Amino acid sequence: MVKLETIYTENCLNTFRRTPDDFIDMTITSPPYDDLREYNGYHFPVEEIAAGLFAKTKPGGVVIWVVGDRTVNGDETLSSFKHAFAFKEAGFRVHDTMIYAKNNPIPSDCGKRYRQCFEYMFCFSKGAPKTFNPMTQAIKQEKAFKSFRITKVGRNDLAHDHIAPKERKVNNIFFYNVGTSSSRDKIAFQHPAIFPEQLVEDQIRTWTNEGDVVYDCFMGSGTTAKVASLLGRRWFGSEISAEYVKIAEQRIAAYLGGQAAA
Ligand SMILES: C[S@@+](CC[C@H](N)C(=O)[O-])C[C@H]1O[C@@H](n2cnc3c(N)ncnc32)[C@H](O)[C@@H]1O
Repeated sequence: MVKLETIYTENCLNTFRRTPDDFIDMTITSPPYDDLREYNGYHFPVEEIAAGLFAKTKPGGVVIWVVGDRTVNGDETLSSFKHAFAFKEAGFRVHDTMIYAKNNPIPSDCGKRYRQCFEYMFCFSKGAPKTFNPMTQAIKQEKAFKSFRITKVGRNDLAHDHIAPKERKVNNIFFYNVGTSSSRDKIAFQHPAIFPEQLVEDQIRTWTNEGDVVYDCFMGSGTTAKVASLLGRRWFGSEISAEYVKIAEQRIAAYLGGQAAA
């Protein structure tokens, strides 16, 4: 049986073996796409991982899969799309393809391309999502005409203005700072590819409630563990590199009283 509030120093495929079926409410993770050398060449069998996650996710649970593509000799790898097809093949629905847009992308020479500034945040769900706590924003009241008002969500009959919605769900493109402003924990930056804490917070709040179980199969520097813990969710994770588990343990010790590795 899997122990919660624990990072397993192992291939996530081994962690699946200790995890009961229909156990996880939500997985949030960023896989080691197109970066095999930087991660010491660990094998990355996406089909097996998608099938494992499908078995271990509760009906109505979701996987948030944050992934981008490399451009090699002017040609995009399309790893993100390959992963999406693998998850569909494993039985998941592609519930939403959200965009993680970077306010401050790392400057690079993109040749005859525009500056690359986003990654995908796929929401794969096992059936219809059982939890959805959407982020909302106020609807700006625009100019009123004789009998109607135009708003960002359409046309309101003025006679019914008092019952018109005052807020709406936010769009599915989310903007985040990357680099040093994405976490206050200096130690996290010893890992080469952390995702922003705010991104993890927004997604965990949206798809889970307090007490739900959140998993990260590629825990890296421990961002998911930290945020899940601060939000009152139970969590566990896998990280194949002992070096990165050490970083994650040190990072989250302050939030957990030191109980994090197995
Ligand atoms: C993109 S990083 C994740 C970073 C993490 N989101 C964070 O904020 O620190 C991917 C991680 O997956 C780990 N990894 C690669 N293959 C793995 C596997 N099969 N099982 C578990 N971890 C793996 C790598 O060592 C790397 O730390």
